[in-house]
Amino acid sequence: MSELQVLFSPEEIRATVERLAQEIQRDYQGKSPLLLGVLKGCFMFMADLVRNLNMPLEIEFVALSSYGRGRTKTSGKAELVQGLRTPIKGRDVLIIEDIVDSGLTLDFLLKHLRRKKPASLKVCALFDKAPRREVTVPIDYVGFTIPDVFVVGYGLDYDEKYRQLPGLYFLKETESSR
Ligand code: IMP
Repeated sequence: MSELQVLFSPEEIRATVERLAQEIQRDYQGKSPLLLGVLKGCFMFMADLVRNLNMPLEIEFVALSSYGRGRTKTSGKAELVQGLRTPIKGRDVLIIEDIVDSGLTLDFLLKHLRRKKPASLKVCALFDKAPRREVTVPIDYVGFTIPDVFVVGYGLDYDEKYRQLPGLYFLKETESSR
């Protein structure tokens, strides 16, 4: 654990998740949105977010794989490995993302979902690594904007490790391998 440096404590994340839930609840009044989580990284955020939402909603997940440039860089390509099992035509769909980096994965997903004609399509991302953006993607609800560092914890992994950590950490050892 010595190579991990705290970026956001569990308390800071909790406060931000509560703030996001308030914004979502306010905007979706009278509606029953479908919260669509992007696996695997979203699992912890999704679980905490929905516990703060006192409104009718449904939950669904998709899994996307990205491959390419190495373990601490996301690839330029995305692929759907687990698709939707619920029709979304006419639904208010809110994508729940752990982190947006280059934006390529989200861009792919948005294009895929728009073709299915949802009534509305919005994005909630807990972490926005804005300096790394390669394509412009709309993010309606942002938790934290973070710099160009590789982070782990709160659902996010390095080589499938560290997902269970309750805070967000900067993984120092990856710097030399980037
Ligand atoms: P994008 O397509 O480049 O925006 O990549 C999005 C995906 O890359 C996220 O859903 C994560 O799975 C992964 N990712 C990007 N940055 C990080 C990071 O700093 N830590 C862990 N995973 C990351």
